Amino acid sequence: MHRWRPELGLIQETLLITLYARALDARRPSPILGDTLSADLAGNIDYDFGKLKVKPNLVVTTALRARKLDDAVRAYVAAHPGCVVLDLGCGLDTRMSRCDPPPSVDWYDIDFPEVVHLRSACLPGRSHLVGADLTDSDWLTAIPGDRPAMIVAEGLFPFMSGDSFQTMTRALADRFPSGELALNGYTRFAAWAMKYHPTIKALGIEAAQGFDDPREPESWGAGLELVEEQLLTRAPEVAGFPQPLRALTRLTARSTALSRQGARVLRYRF
Ligand SMILES: C[S@@+](CC[C@H](N)C(=O)[O-])C[C@H]1O[C@@H](n2cnc3c(N)ncnc32)[C@H](O)[C@@H]1O
Repeated sequence: MHRWRPELGLIQETLLITLYARALDARRPSPILGDTLSADLAGNIDYDFGKLKVKPNLVVTTALRARKLDDAVRAYVAAHPGCVVLDLGCGLDTRMSRCDPPPSVDWYDIDFPEVVHLRSACLPGRSHLVGADLTDSDWLTAIPGDRPAMIVAEGLFPFMSGDSFQTMTRALADRFPSGELALNGYTRFAAWAMKYHPTIKALGIEAAQGFDDPREPESWGAGLELVEEQLLTRAPEVAGFPQPLRALTRLTARSTALSRQGARVLRYRF
């Protein structure tokens, strides 16, 4: 069987962390996301996933945030069947297969050109692939701007430098008549602490960006309005976390401040 050997830069390589976390979730007896396509894909990639030191906490939180972001995409698509979906920093995520939108939806997977190249080889699908650096907004002209847009950005925010995420958000909000942005949030502390996380340390990346107040993006000048902040420590799926993680997560769930340091999903309308 052919196996793909990824040749990626450090930031691009982070896509293997989330892919592997989803794959490990799919192999659990009671998975949270159950993304067997990710498990098959990870099995076809020639890479030492062991060096990423992906721990159970990362497996379940990655699976859970993906599930919540999928729910947001499905709900938007159900309400706007003629929309476009943009998965920013898509990596090798199989979100489109999981969400299975109707043919009326145009789905765009966007990431660096080398990622999109790898993706087109090992994960054929019906999405439009756009190879671009998201810090530059030229790529947006390739996307029809006359339809509502569901924009999802999973695991992207801390890896975009300076205020490039904010600038990109303004360009996106300008481009579409209306839409929703769904992302997983990182507090400033979580983003700072990330560089000490064994997985990120293993790759030698300095991820740095975060924000604490879920309303902060409302001041980015993109016309964003907070719809929802979901603190995932309080999600019912925590019942399926392995022990002692489940007990620890339930304890954390009692505090909003502590829960914000963990996985959270934020949704904004514009
Ligand atoms: C942690 S991975 C997450 C991948 C995917 N969203 C997932 O959940 O599996 C971060 C992704 O963001 C992409 N990325 C980071 N900065 C980017 C930029 N400036 N332009 C395009 N893609 C970027 C990386 O290449 C990588 O695929």
